[in-house]
Amino acid sequence: MKLKILLIAVMCGAVMSASAQYNTLVIPDTLSGTTFNLNIKDTFKQFLPGNQTITGGINGNFWGPTLFFNQGDTVHMNVQSYLNDSTTLHWHGMHLPAVMDGGPHQIIPPGTLWQPYWKVTNQAATFWYHPHLHTMTEEQMSKGIGGFIIVRDAAEAALALPRTYGVDDIPLALTSRKFDASNAIDYTSSHYGDTPVVNGTLHPQVTLPKQYVRLRILNAEMERAYNLGFSDNRTFYIIGNDGGLLNAPVSATRIKLAVGERAEIMVNLGSDAIGSSFDLVAYNAGQEFGFGGGEPNTTGTFGSLLNNRNFNVLHIVVGATTTGAITAVPSALVSNTYLTAADATVSRTLLVTDGNPGPGNPPFNFDHTVYNFNTINKTVHLNDVEKWTVINSNVFGHTFHIHDIEFKILSRSSHPVGAYESGWKDTYYLQVNDTVTFVAKFDDYADPIHPFMYHCHFAPHEDGGMMQQFVVVDATGVDNTGKAAGGFSLYPNPAGSRLFVSLEDPAMQVYYVTITNAAGRTMCMLPRPQLAGGIDISAYAPGTYFLQLTDELTKKTTVKQFVKQ
Ligand code: C2O
Ligand code: CU
Repeated sequence: MKLKILLIAVMCGAVMSASAQYNTLVIPDTLSGTTFNLNIKDTFKQFLPGNQTITGGINGNFWGPTLFFNQGDTVHMNVQSYLNDSTTLHWHGMHLPAVMDGGPHQIIPPGTLWQPYWKVTNQAATFWYHPHLHTMTEEQMSKGIGGFIIVRDAAEAALALPRTYGVDDIPLALTSRKFDASNAIDYTSSHYGDTPVVNGTLHPQVTLPKQYVRLRILNAEMERAYNLGFSDNRTFYIIGNDGGLLNAPVSATRIKLAVGERAEIMVNLGSDAIGSSFDLVAYNAGQEFGFGGGEPNTTGTFGSLLNNRNFNVLHIVVGATTTGAITAVPSALVSNTYLTAADATVSRTLLVTDGNPGPGNPPFNFDHTVYNFNTINKTVHLNDVEKWTVINSNVFGHTFHIHDIEFKILSRSSHPVGAYESGWKDTYYLQVNDTVTFVAKFDDYADPIHPFMYHCHFAPHEDGGMMQQFVVVDATGVDNTGKAAGGFSLYPNPAGSRLFVSLEDPAMQVYYVTITNAAGRTMCMLPRPQLAGGIDISAYAPGTYFLQLTDELTKKTTVKQFVKQ
């Protein structure tokens, strides 16, 4: 008995002891259905005693609602930005048209409504949304702008898995922040925070039922990686990662998650005594060189009080068993048909390279090329299966993320591909001296104008230009250059609450509509708008406006004026 107490004391001593004061873990609100209203605002939150902290939020004051999508539904997003700066909102991991993607090209100016929509084709998994404005991503993510997306599908629904949100199915967005003397978030003096923040909660505690629970863990950091496990070293089961459920659960006592990666795990609390507690811990001490947050320093640009040490992420208290509790891990999950190297008809290689040393220059890039908004770095043909090899012989670790697709990792040079990363992925940890090859199919969405991104998901690296872009083109498409754009008219004009667009050629496809006011402010951005019901202009002040319409065939833009009464 004495030995046991001593052991526990030693184990607790090994992790940074949090203050005895815990805060109840925030479980983000939920939105479901097919229309999602997201209002992005500059706001504030009482993180610490004293001054409130200036934050950014979506429908709230730090981290946004969890969006529930059903596979097969077409989801319509009403993204209204009240920020003082431009922003973008990217649906990380979603397979959708590039014009809806919310990457650096889909800029939402202040005061603008952006209305992307798409058919959800992703498998059931945990995704997230976050700003992606080039050079401003770290600033806007640091303020707390972002949220989870949970996709559900029939295959997942058929399994006996915990799925009562906030009860036995818990989303955990892991990050950290540094607060300055006036409680402001300081993302400039270091890219690593000093205090863990989970779903916007400092020193979080959650009560979980005495049964199997499911944790959906996202690394929502700027640079820090997590080597997660439980304080009593209990075994848990990895059931899914970035893009979907695995074929079968994988047992583990640790899981590494680099920035942007997600994992769904099941952990058994069925043998714990009600009222007992344990911790989810970042076992970040003594990691390999290049592991984000493994640096020894506590101050300076890459300094943090959490660096190179183990620290508590979440205090878990065991509560009563719920009715309908899940009491076992399924032996099998879903049957994924993965792509193989033999499926690929195109191979590409990408090198992580150093930026030009010098004040203000970005430290890292790909293939000696700094991100340029107007350069298309790669052109992919629609429906091609491609094999990409990313080589990091660079001086630090990175996390590689690509938009549009989920891929299958074929090989790693540093170690065998971990079982935890054996499923569909969109983001992975790229160690120092690592070469990672993945295979993916680029299907469904071709667009020669709007590119998709691939980049390092370390926010400072991405902002510094460790990012490139590709377009997916339909090689079988006809060349429409020289064709005339279709004509259109606006009615009624002057208009009341709705403005209608009448196309001269009813077969004409509209690629984009933007409305600006007389002062040049963008009121709304409507990619591939569905115009039949008219455009809602009821919130506009009376005055003159300009509607800019780009047609799908010729990509030519025509501007027409209208008056709002
Ligand atoms: Cu999570 Cu390009 O982004
Ligand atoms: Cu990087």
